[in-house]
Amino acid sequence: MDALTRYQTKGHLQVEGWLWPGAMELLISLAGLQRALGVRGGIGEIGVHHGRLFILLHLLSGPDELSAAWDLFEDQDQNLDASGRGDYARLEANLKAHGCDLGRIQLVKANSAELDGGQVREVLGGGARLFSVDGGHTADLTYGDLRTASSALAEGGILILDDFYNEQWPGVAEGAQRFLADHPERLFPVAIGGNKVFFTHSAEWARRYQEALAAVGPRAHKISELAGTPVLVFRFPPARGPAGRLLRRLRRLLG
Ligand SMILES: C[S@@+](CC[C@H](N)C(=O)[O-])C[C@H]1O[C@@H](n2cnc3c(N)ncnc32)[C@H](O)[C@@H]1O
Repeated sequence: MDALTRYQTKGHLQVEGWLWPGAMELLISLAGLQRALGVRGGIGEIGVHHGRLFILLHLLSGPDELSAAWDLFEDQDQNLDASGRGDYARLEANLKAHGCDLGRIQLVKANSAELDGGQVREVLGGGARLFSVDGGHTADLTYGDLRTASSALAEGGILILDDFYNEQWPGVAEGAQRFLADHPERLFPVAIGGNKVFFTHSAEWARRYQEALAAVGPRAHKISELAGTPVLVFRFPPARGPAGRLLRRLRRLLG
């Protein structure tokens, strides 16, 4: 079994963090489509905590692609809304434990409010193919992180935004809606599922991904609308609560 399959089936459960099975499934499908469509570029995340999503993102990268994570790490006094708690040592240990190539990874201690797309491109050696925004969850930080990430996307790149529809973090929806209204040409939704919204940088790329996802992507979906453009909404089995626990136990027993 390769490192990616091991991590997807069991490994991610050993890393503290937030990543629902539906989001993994969508992400893996989109990364597969990127390979098929010849999309190339770096891998990045703002807000990495102990690496639960970042490890998966990195395991989806090619041998010549760089990955980087930006987080406050030990500067938690700057974590305005206590959204997670970055930990450099745990992250590094988790990366090693799950088969990541540390030679292609940079961990950058930074407050994302001071980060811009140019700095991201410099660290990644070019644009990002997959970039997750999951740092501070206030409206202003979300707005700023979307500006940074959207200006760092490679041709065909995908931006993954966490918690857009999570009622615990209303700042994410506020910041994202404001960003989408202020910059209608910067981000186009592709899909919603597993507590994440997946965007790309043009209507043409969004259509391409949606057609392919609808044909080969994971299970049930409907077509809806976000910020005036079409989006595929996927339905996955519950990841939490008694049903989610039962499913996880079954997966462990079977796997
Ligand atoms: C919700 S957690 C990230 C979860 C992670 N993506 C996962 O896969 O489990 C949020 C992270 O953002 C970091 N963070 C919060 N505010 C930040 C800021 N202003 N700049 C950079 N990182 C920040 C926290 O330290 C924490 O690690």
